[in-house]
Amino acid sequence: MQQITLTQPDDWHLHVRTGDMLKTVINHTARQFSRAIIMPNLQPPVTNVAQALNYQQEIQQATSRQYNFTPLMVLYLTNATTVEDVQQASLSPAIHAFKLYPAGATTNSDQGVTDLNAIYPIFAAMEELNVPLLVHGEVTDPEIDIFDRERVFIEQKLSVIHQHFPDLRIVLEHVTTSDAVQFVQQAPDNIAATITPQHLLYNRNAILVGGIKPHYYCLPILKRETHREALVKAATSGNPKFFLGTDSAPHLTHLKENSCGCAGCYSAYAAIELYAEAFDKAGALDKLEGFASFYGADFYQLPRNTQQITLEKTDWQVPEHYPVTEKEQLTPLKAGEILHWKLQA
Ligand code: NCD
Ligand code: ZN
Repeated sequence: MQQITLTQPDDWHLHVRTGDMLKTVINHTARQFSRAIIMPNLQPPVTNVAQALNYQQEIQQATSRQYNFTPLMVLYLTNATTVEDVQQASLSPAIHAFKLYPAGATTNSDQGVTDLNAIYPIFAAMEELNVPLLVHGEVTDPEIDIFDRERVFIEQKLSVIHQHFPDLRIVLEHVTTSDAVQFVQQAPDNIAATITPQHLLYNRNAILVGGIKPHYYCLPILKRETHREALVKAATSGNPKFFLGTDSAPHLTHLKENSCGCAGCYSAYAAIELYAEAFDKAGALDKLEGFASFYGADFYQLPRNTQQITLEKTDWQVPEHYPVTEKEQLTPLKAGEILHWKLQA
């Protein structure tokens, strides 16, 4: 049987929520990954160190003791974030970045930033104190077509931030376009990007052909095939600017299968296996370890992991659902389908 052994990977972009949902999803992540960057878009959002430490504790309590898993915390930038918040974050070993959500760009982003110019003093403090900025890179202008929102954000917003703060470390999260790939490739080493499994595996036909398929709906939305190909090329290139961030974003099934369905794909249950599928299809399994286990840690200036995991090439069927409460459930990406790679217990 074909097998591959990798240094244990980390997930550099993850939503785990709270309460019952947290308890359902966290061990799916912890069985594969050593660390994960935990997104702060709760309601209300995680905006200061004290809230982040509480949330970190809730995550640790929900994690099975058999796993050695560390949640890396992130603060949510709002119009009210202060320079003191940045200073406190930079002093806390638990906090690893700030996340910028343009207000209204995605799930739970209504507290996001409305005027980027107004938070320039915050960017200046982050640059000075070496705190990374994680960016949801989409404009929210209702006039801009949803398929163009990432490209326009890069042209109008991200390139301006980068020009004003050339030493600010920035991760352009969950890139979905060849425009984003090009921007990151051409930028200096302090600019990097995460790539999700769904954007490597699917194009926008997955959402729209043969009926509307809400479980493929996430933001930024899946794009056309040429963009998917550019992402696969970037992820499998061995370029350390591109690394693993699942953006696994669980929502209850009935909130996705809905006349106004939530954005987010649930991939954490088999994240490393889904990436293995994508890299295998591209004939680039030898590039998976750098992408999944080295480059993100290097960018975040954290030590690489030393444990290992092994994946076997063997077919298994994805469950249709995972139970969340007695009555409610979660539908995973590829529900009911066959995956070809399996993590060894
Ligand atoms: C995320 C969520 O549900 O929190 N949804 C998504 O479609 N990716 C938010 C985000 O990362 O944009
Ligand atoms: Zn996300």
